[in-house]
Amino acid sequence: MGEMRVNQFRGTWVEALTGDSAGTRVRVAGWVHRRRDHGGLVFIDLRDRTGLVQLVFHPESAADAHQLAHQLRPEDVISCEGDVTLRDSAQINPDLSTGAIEIAVSSIELLNSAETPAFAVDEDGPVDELVRLRNRVIDLRRGSTAAVIALRSSITSAIRKVLDGEEFLDVETPILTRSTPEGARDYLVPARTHPGSFFALPQSPQLFKQLLMIGGVERYYQIARCFRDEDLRADRQPEFTQLDVEMAFVDEEDVISLTERVLSSVFEVAEFSVPAAPWPRITYEESMRRFGNDRPDDRFGLELEDVSDALAGTDFKVFSSALEKGGVIWGINAGDTEVARSGLDDLTEVAKRHGAGGLVWAFLLEDGEWRSPVGKFLSADERSAIAERLGANVGDLMLLVADHLTISAAALSAVRLELAEQRDLIPADTHSPIWVTDFPMFDPLPGNAGWTAVHHPFTAPDGDLSDPAKVQSRAYDIVLDGIEIGGGSMRIHDPETQESVLGVLGMSQAESRDQFGFLLDALRSGAPPHGGIAIGIDRLTAICAGRESIRDVIAFPKSASGQDPLTGAPAAVDPKQLQELSIRQLPGVAQEAKGEG
Ligand code: AMO
Ligand code: AMP
Repeated sequence: MGEMRVNQFRGTWVEALTGDSAGTRVRVAGWVHRRRDHGGLVFIDLRDRTGLVQLVFHPESAADAHQLAHQLRPEDVISCEGDVTLRDSAQINPDLSTGAIEIAVSSIELLNSAETPAFAVDEDGPVDELVRLRNRVIDLRRGSTAAVIALRSSITSAIRKVLDGEEFLDVETPILTRSTPEGARDYLVPARTHPGSFFALPQSPQLFKQLLMIGGVERYYQIARCFRDEDLRADRQPEFTQLDVEMAFVDEEDVISLTERVLSSVFEVAEFSVPAAPWPRITYEESMRRFGNDRPDDRFGLELEDVSDALAGTDFKVFSSALEKGGVIWGINAGDTEVARSGLDDLTEVAKRHGAGGLVWAFLLEDGEWRSPVGKFLSADERSAIAERLGANVGDLMLLVADHLTISAAALSAVRLELAEQRDLIPADTHSPIWVTDFPMFDPLPGNAGWTAVHHPFTAPDGDLSDPAKVQSRAYDIVLDGIEIGGGSMRIHDPETQESVLGVLGMSQAESRDQFGFLLDALRSGAPPHGGIAIGIDRLTAICAGRESIRDVIAFPKSASGQDPLTGAPAAVDPKQLQELSIRQLPGVAQEAKGEG
């Protein structure tokens, strides 16, 4: 912590007090963390943002202060003056940075008193999340919460330092804007002065940062708030923060190496140990094949294998019907492990939750025999072909899913992660950043209904667009410990390609013009080659802090159900406001909102 500016309340941060301060007179301010009355003496642990210090109140030498201290309660706000004294060696507290000293208080001012908090600030035990969010001011004072808020600030500060040092300009972009397609639902804001028209909150600053490149900014960044109305999860909030970056006159390598410089400096300030950059890269195709998803966690084995062709002629219905429908049979060798029946049922549940019809499990016994509910349906040749493909030895547990490629992959990759969790396979303090490259450009919509962009429609295709199923994109993701923390791409910088891509996505020329005319015009005005990336700051911070949920690293997050328990948002509004906005509510809905509010 830097030098403190002295004012009437405080002359020093608590953290700055050490044995060297003994004999000096200091003024500190903060909250009553804990109070202990010891016969005549009163001890108070005073807390400021930097830590704790022990205050001592002597009844004889400072009778008034002692009198007041005796009545203080946790979370009262005080400012005190006193002399720093060394503690007796028996009283030294090695757990506290100020544990060698205390302050003998001569005068104290009670700045404000506090009601009993909803939960204790001086204990870091578990408190129900809803209670914490409803009482966020109390929660923010607790050591563990305060630490992540401070960590988040160091992370954004490290980011700014690197980018400011590399000639990036920090530019703000609109929050009230038009829909920016990133694949989620928009949050809409009715425009009072244009009845029937709506602003959309940005899902990301994507189009604006491209316009900034065309506008000659060349190197842009923003710590930008993004809004996406999608189903929430531990790593998804309706509003979240990106480090958004865009560069002109660059290719993939420039963006990737810049990102590595930025993230390396983040990991350094967060004291989060990762291998030195450059980090490994894996193609989308290889990631899907080995891990079953595009967020590879390569800190443990249990990689997936395709065993389909070992079962081409099988009579076992589960397998043959999947193959007939053009599906695949994928497996994992879970290794030599005794898993109880209930554990196998849990794994089967995981597979089912991800769409699979079930999970075949089999332990390899001597002589190629299987202990498995389905062993009897497979020939000895089929069993040995599977075991061989999975590299199984006697005692190994084999797990198989038969389904469409996407389902087999999703189900088995989830089973793989569940196994890692169950068996504690992820080595402590080992972290693995990895780039995923060569994504497909388009994904088919269900029911042959056309195509959707895998990244977003402004991503440059790698090659021509004649076969949407085959074309790859110039997109890349950065994954940390199996979590996608960022993604970006080279962009389309000529209007014809942009129009063709929008065409593949099913937009007529008129529709493209209507929605993206401003971009198409800009692309005709001298657009440099450009590309960029966005890093999810919430996810990055949560991983660095070892937190499961990004709610833990956001000062005022939404709850798991998408509400703000602190302010009660979202809430019903005054009918007058709706009228001004030319909005009429459906009758049932209006009732419901009132009931909730
Ligand atoms: P993308 O949609 O991949 O790319 O988002 C980039 C990163 O933002 C984080 N993220 C989220 N974090 C919390 N809650 C959410 N709901 C959420 N959604 C996304 C993820 C993700 O990797 N405009 C492009 C970037 C570009 O092309 O430059 C974009 O937004 O960590
Ligand atoms: P059933 O024929 O549904 O009784 O399933 C027989 C066994 O195959 C059970 O152990 C199921 O869990 C498993 N199973 C069912 N469908 C699949 C599937 N698509 N992939 C893998 N195993 C499956």
